[in-house]
Amino acid sequence: MNRRQFINLILGGGALGCLASAVYPVLRYMMPPEQVEADPDSIKVGSTKDFPAGSSKIFKFGRKPVIVIRDLKGGFHALTATCTHLDCIVQYQKENDIVWCACHNGKYDLSGKNVSGPPPRPLDRFEVKVSGDEVAVVRTA
Ligand code: FES
Repeated sequence: MNRRQFINLILGGGALGCLASAVYPVLRYMMPPEQVEADPDSIKVGSTKDFPAGSSKIFKFGRKPVIVIRDLKGGFHALTATCTHLDCIVQYQKENDIVWCACHNGKYDLSGKNVSGPPPRPLDRFEVKVSGDEVAVVRTA
């Protein structure tokens, strides 16, 4: 290798290193790392005192929000909190004892069944276990 070839090799390697140091961060930014999130089978959502009759709360269950409802008779219900129409967050309407989506006036009964409006299918249901004072939401099958 003569002197010219050696200098070309050093300059070419340096240019390649500069290019890689500029391109690598851009590629890493465009491809974020996969997030590993726990997908539990059950979550504790509080005590029965936290749920007076006619109330509801929304919790994160894995990657999805779940609405826990205590109806006016004291029964517990847990449903996916995202509307099956366009994924808006639903809410419990105590006055009508229904689950309501404000986006397009979609309505579900407390079993999650779509009863009016555009939602195409029912909300997913979860089991609510009350042991002593503690309330837990459990994934069904
Ligand atoms: S998003 Fe719920 S009714 Fe349209």
